Amino acid sequence: MNEPLTADVPAADKNAVIELPVIELRGVRKSFGGLEVLKGVDLTVTRGEVVVIIGPSGGGKSTLLRCVNLLEPITAGKVFLEGRDLTEPGVDLNEVRRQIGMVFQQFNLFPHLTALDNLTLAPRRLLRTPRTEAEQAARELLDRVGLADKAGSHPGQLSGGQQQRVAIARALMMAPHVMLFDEVTSALDPELVSEVLDVMRDLARSGMTMLCVTHEMGFARELGDRLVFVDGGVIAEQGRPADVLDEPSGERTRQFLRKVLR
Ligand SMILES: Nc1ncnc2c1ncn2[C@@H]1O[C@H](COP(=O)(O)OP(=O)(O)OP(=O)(O)O)[C@@H](O)[C@H]1O
Ligand SMILES: [Mg+2]
Repeated sequence: MNEPLTADVPAADKNAVIELPVIELRGVRKSFGGLEVLKGVDLTVTRGEVVVIIGPSGGGKSTLLRCVNLLEPITAGKVFLEGRDLTEPGVDLNEVRRQIGMVFQQFNLFPHLTALDNLTLAPRRLLRTPRTEAEQAARELLDRVGLADKAGSHPGQLSGGQQQRVAIARALMMAPHVMLFDEVTSALDPELVSEVLDVMRDLARSGMTMLCVTHEMGFARELGDRLVFVDGGVIAEQGRPADVLDEPSGERTRQFLRKVLR
């Protein structure tokens, strides 16, 4: 069904601005060959919302994130960014992807570039931002993630936690409308996890719209507006994090949480 995106407005609120969801997935399906990995996912993320995605390995969490910016072409369904249908022909996906920041488990920094140059590369190349302007913005963001003194360091000279913070700052350089995080702390030594979560906490509190795949249940409980359990290619359960974590309604959710919360 294609309901209008704007809800019925009560007469008194006629002049109220109805804000479009930042992200909306409708009936998204994704197959790899004969394997259907996403089996009809509906998900709406509103501005400033922090949605945490959990679920068993192979359940489709990464695929789901990659479908949001159509890094994976979807098999069926629709993806909207701020009301715009990204699956329509003629949409400039490169332009769209600049509005959607993405950070992965593996930091994917350019090893031959300094932290500063990792941050300035995309704005300079894609947006033609002048070097001095890009470097000023980059230094501000490095400062924000606690790495003002590492601007001249190469990734190989940084810890995993520091590299991941550079990767987050790099994504922020494009002033994204939403940030996607795919298990960004999973490859880190335990003592480095909190410095990355601190950056994500700061970002969430600043009002960034975030979609985070993570197994950090403390983060989910503290900062998640919603917890989504993805299993077998569908959203099997969702709700307020405390509700889902403390009183999961589905048996599969219960089983999963028993394992990860042990
Ligand atoms: N490019 C691909 N080609 C073929 N199959 C794929 C591809 N990417 C993912 N899959 C399959 O899709 C399923 C879902 O994978 P996905 O990476 O989305 O799971 P996940 O929930 O992120 O798992 P994990 O917790 O291990 O990261 C898996 O069965 C996986 O093997
Ligand atoms: Mg994954």
